[in-house]
Amino acid sequence: MTELGLLLDAMIARIEEVRAPVDSRIERALRSVPRHRYVPPIALIADGDRPPFLIDRDKDPELWMTSVYTETAIVTQLDDGATDLATLDGNYSSSSSAPATVADLLELLDPQPGDRVLEIGTGTGWTAALLCHLAGEQNITSLEVDPVLAEAAAKNLAEAGLRPHLVVGDGAEGAPDRGPFDRVHATCAVRTVPYVWIDQCRPGAVIVTPIHTGVGDGHVLRLVVLDDGTAQGRFREYADYMAMRSQRPVYLPDPAGVQPRESTTRVDPRMVVRAPPGARLAIAALTGLRLDTRTEPGRFLVWASSTTEAREKALVIWEEGKTEYKLYELSDRPVWDEVVAAYFQWVRWGEPRRDRFGMTVGPQGQCYWLDTPSQVIS
Ligand SMILES: C[S@@+](CC[C@H](N)C(=O)[O-])C[C@H]1O[C@@H](n2cnc3c(N)ncnc32)[C@H](O)[C@@H]1O
Repeated sequence: MTELGLLLDAMIARIEEVRAPVDSRIERALRSVPRHRYVPPIALIADGDRPPFLIDRDKDPELWMTSVYTETAIVTQLDDGATDLATLDGNYSSSSSAPATVADLLELLDPQPGDRVLEIGTGTGWTAALLCHLAGEQNITSLEVDPVLAEAAAKNLAEAGLRPHLVVGDGAEGAPDRGPFDRVHATCAVRTVPYVWIDQCRPGAVIVTPIHTGVGDGHVLRLVVLDDGTAQGRFREYADYMAMRSQRPVYLPDPAGVQPRESTTRVDPRMVVRAPPGARLAIAALTGLRLDTRTEPGRFLVWASSTTEAREKALVIWEEGKTEYKLYELSDRPVWDEVVAAYFQWVRWGEPRRDRFGMTVGPQGQCYWLDTPSQVIS
């Protein structure tokens, strides 16, 4: 067994440890498309378990190679390229996603040989290469907004002998000349599913996209395109992807000169933000608000805010030893009460899990539902 063979075995075993057994087609693709061909010589490991660190193929080839085959995302760009990776500090704007997540999403997508596939977010080119293996290189179109990343991905793919159709452009516009698609796979997260993705699909097509709602971690949504030009499907599992550039989370600064109204609440804000994924989906769907948190010694701060009106914001501060918590609100819109009401609505519904929620997307926009598409909740 070669060293690469051993590393691939270890990667597959680790994927199976953190999730279910890998589908045999996806496993063959993962083995045929070695990840190290798509990781740049210098990259950043930021898995949250330890402080972020650089891997450098020239300086420490062994660390680089073993890191590439571990179950972690590998950051390849900070701040859209404006910050050097060596600073270890910035917003992650591109990465090679963790192998288990890649396998999960590909399994949900289930691309068949001959399917025409659109990928949004070429990044390093690894997923595009896996898609080439699964559906045939002539059927793959991959879109990347960042020209520098797109060029590097094109080089990686060419060196591996693969020629998918690569486009530098905004994934929100899709690739109208290359459809109709049987599969659309976004590898960046959206809050609003662009209708053009559906419009560029054949009826029966499958769309798999990470969704970020602004309330806690992200979710994977799997949609099926119907014969009436809409698409519907359920939230399936956890996936925290970086947001599509045009749909990055919006956090509006406090408006100047507005005095917050002070009161108290008996609801522990930690209960709301630590609630399971189903509750977080309910809060996002019912309120449209986002939640942000900060932990301080003896305190836990939660902001609930609108993404369109800077005044529609509240801050709740949990403090150790207190039985009531300070609540500061900037406008008459009772955003914190809305969050709490949504949380208890979720409890009244019987605490539904993530996959009881779904979404329908049509030309007029998107709506969330619970259990069946006819039970629209927002
Ligand atoms: C998690 S990475 C994708 C990983 C990639 N599939 C791979 O195998 O390496 C997300 C990518 O989406 C790209 N992206 C962000 N907004 C985009 C947009 N509007 N259109 C196309 N790509 C976008 C980012 O530049 C980034 O490269």
